[in-house]
Amino acid sequence: MKKLMVVALAVGVLAAPALASIKDSKHDLSVHSTATIKSDYDELCIFCHTPHQASTTVSNAPLWNRNTDGGVSSFTTADLYDSQSLTPASKPDAAGLLDAIKNSDVPLCLSCHDGTGMASGIIHKGAEAAPPVFTGGDGPGNDQIGGRANLKDGGNVLKDDHPIGMVYDDVVTAKSDDFNAVVDGVIPGPGGRDLPLFGGRMWCASCHAVHGVPGVDSFLRASNEQSGLCLACHNK
Ligand code: HEC
Ligand code: HEC
Ligand code: HEC
Ligand code: HEC
Repeated sequence: MKKLMVVALAVGVLAAPALASIKDSKHDLSVHSTATIKSDYDELCIFCHTPHQASTTVSNAPLWNRNTDGGVSSFTTADLYDSQSLTPASKPDAAGLLDAIKNSDVPLCLSCHDGTGMASGIIHKGAEAAPPVFTGGDGPGNDQIGGRANLKDGGNVLKDDHPIGMVYDDVVTAKSDDFNAVVDGVIPGPGGRDLPLFGGRMWCASCHAVHGVPGVDSFLRASNEQSGLCLACHNK
C-alpha cells in the first residue's frame, strides 16, 4: 500500500505541468510585467498571437498578430553569415538556404528584434482601443529594442550571427567527427532538453525557446552553462 502511494505520488509529480515562464520575462510586454521594456496593455500573448484573423502573409506563423517581418522577405545571400570553414550546406549560396530562412521563425523574431518600433506592428488590439504605449525601450515611442538584442545593429542583419537554415544532417555527414548526430529527429541537449530541427533545418528555435524555459536564461532551449548548449551539436 505504502509502495503504491509512493508510486502514485511520483507519477503525480512527473505529470505536473512545468511552470510557465513567459510571465515577467523580457517577452512579457504587459503592464503587469517586471521587464524594463513594457507597455500599458493588460494581455501578454497579444503582442505575438491573436485567436482570430491572424496574419496569413508572414510565413510559418503560429496565429501571428504581427504584420512586420524585419525585412526578411527581401533578404539576399549577402545578408547571411559566411566563412571559409563552412560546409557547402551552410554557405549562403547553398540551394534553398535563403528560402528556408525566409520561411523559418526569423521573420517572427525580427519583427521586433530589428530595432524598429514594436507598437505599430500589432494587427489586432483585442480589448484595447488604442495602440500600446511603451516605456523602457529606445526611440521616440520607447518601443524599439537597442543594443545587442537588436539583431540589425550595425546594419549587419544575419551576417554576424551563428549560421541557421542549413540541413543539420548534411553538416553531420560532411563533418562527422565535429558534430553530434540527430537522435529520433532531435539533437539531445544538456539537462535532457532536446534541440529541435524544423524540416531537418536549424532555426532560431533550435537554440531558443521564445516562451522561456524555467531556470534557463536568455530564452535558451537548454542551459549554456559550461557551453553545454554549444557542445550538444559541436563535438569539440
Ligand atoms: C514575444 C512573442 C511571443 C509571445 C509574447 C508569445 N508567443 Fe507564443 N510563439 C511565439 C513564436 C515566435 C512561436 C513559434 C515558435 C518559434 O519558432 O520560436 C510561438 C508559438 C506558440 C505556440 C505553438 C507552438 C508551441 O510552442 O506550443 C503556442 C501554443 C503559443 N505560442 C502560445 C502562446 C501563449 C498562450 C502566449 C501567452 C501566454 C504566447 N504564446 C506568447 C512568440 C510569442
Ligand atoms: C513582440 C516583440 C518580440 C518578438 C516577436 C520577439 N522578441 Fe525577443 N525580446 C523582445 C524584447 C522587448 C526583449 C527585451 C530587449 C531588451 O531588454 O533590450 C527581448 C529579448 C530577447 C532575448 C534576450 C533575453 C535575455 O534574457 O536577455 C532573446 C534571446 C530573445 N528576445 C529571443 C527572441 C527570439 C528567438 C524570438 C523569435 C522566436 C523573439 N525573441 C521574438 C521582444 C520580442
Ligand atoms: C546556435 C545557437 C543559437 C542560434 C541558432 C540563435 N541563437 Fe540567439 N543566442 C544564443 C545564445 C547562446 C545566446 C546567449 C547570449 C550569448 O551567449 O551571446 C543568445 C542570445 C540572443 C539574444 C540576446 C542578445 C543580448 O545579449 O541581449 C537575442 C535577441 C537572440 N539570441 C536572438 C536570436 C534570433 C532572433 C535567432 C535567429 C535568427 C537566434 N538568436 C539564433 C544562441 C543562439
Ligand atoms: C543546434 C546545433 C548547434 C548549436 C546548439 C550550436 N551550433 Fe555552432 N554550428 C552548428 C552548425 C550545423 C554549424 C555549421 C558548420 C558548417 O557548416 O561547417 C555551426 C557553425 C559554428 C561555427 C563555425 C562558423 C564557421 O565560420 O565555420 C562556430 C564557431 C560555432 N558554430 C560556434 C557555436 C557556439 C559558440 C555555440 C554555442 C553558443 C554553437 N555554435 C551552438 C550547429 C550548432
